[in-house]
Amino acid sequence: MLYFCSTLEEYKNLKSKLKSKKVGLVPTMGNLHEGHMSLVERSLSQNDLTVVSIFVNPTQFARGEDFDTYPRSLEQDLQKIEKKLAKLGDNNKSVIAFAPKNDEEVYPKGFSEHIKAGKLGKILEGELRPEHFDGVVTVVKRLFTMLAPDNAYFGKKDFQQFTLIKLMTEKEGLKLNLEGLQTVRESSGLAMSSRNGYLSKDEKELGLNLYKKLKELEQLLKKEKSIELARDQIKKTLKEDSSFNYLDIRNANDLTELKDLSVPVVILGNYQVNKVRLIDNMEVEVK
Ligand code: PAF
Repeated sequence: MLYFCSTLEEYKNLKSKLKSKKVGLVPTMGNLHEGHMSLVERSLSQNDLTVVSIFVNPTQFARGEDFDTYPRSLEQDLQKIEKKLAKLGDNNKSVIAFAPKNDEEVYPKGFSEHIKAGKLGKILEGELRPEHFDGVVTVVKRLFTMLAPDNAYFGKKDFQQFTLIKLMTEKEGLKLNLEGLQTVRESSGLAMSSRNGYLSKDEKELGLNLYKKLKELEQLLKKEKSIELARDQIKKTLKEDSSFNYLDIRNANDLTELKDLSVPVVILGNYQVNKVRLIDNMEVEVK
């Protein structure tokens, strides 16, 4: 059964009425696509109550970014969740869609629990969007506190975001399990994203350059097992194609500098297609 609430008070009442044993949270900014729905599906399989939060968080957007125009599609989002529940056909599973009716519901007057993402929040995406991850970790901690889940699910397309959320959860001593799920892709390979809706067919084609380069680097790392060769290839790419805002290889455990190939590796990139910045990454098993 799907329930909807837009205030914390309603949520608390509903949750206590449902007497659920295990609660899974899928935090989203709405405009749900198959990537989000794979998180919902996972949560439904592991919890008796799944909470899908739908909140376009103002604190993670800088002035001039797309906060005002970010796609909002609550009706369609609810329909997608309803459809997923119907397909599952398990009457013991409930979903609460929690879409705060205004920003004050999340950040009440006098809210003073802003937290910082730290040094790793300033590299890669953080170099392009300096305050972004402070806003992300603040809202995610706030959602964890408000909604009190046992488990929370994130897409690994936002690899840096997921890493920073894991670090924040540890640092803040929050008692819940986090799971990162594989990126869901369109049949072309393009990573699913709410912002793909901004792209024309030709722009999507251009955006595929990022995925193709990640694949190429993955093959190179697997074949040559050399960080130096991968770095040379990255340098060459950045020089030749100015649409790459960054392209890097890092230690996948914590995004620190990659020193050798004994650790899991992640290749991360950001690619500009006109006004849209696409991000994607690939984890590589080199051994
Ligand atoms: O990935 C997102 O949609 C957002 O950054 C999140 C995690 C819901 C926080 O607003």
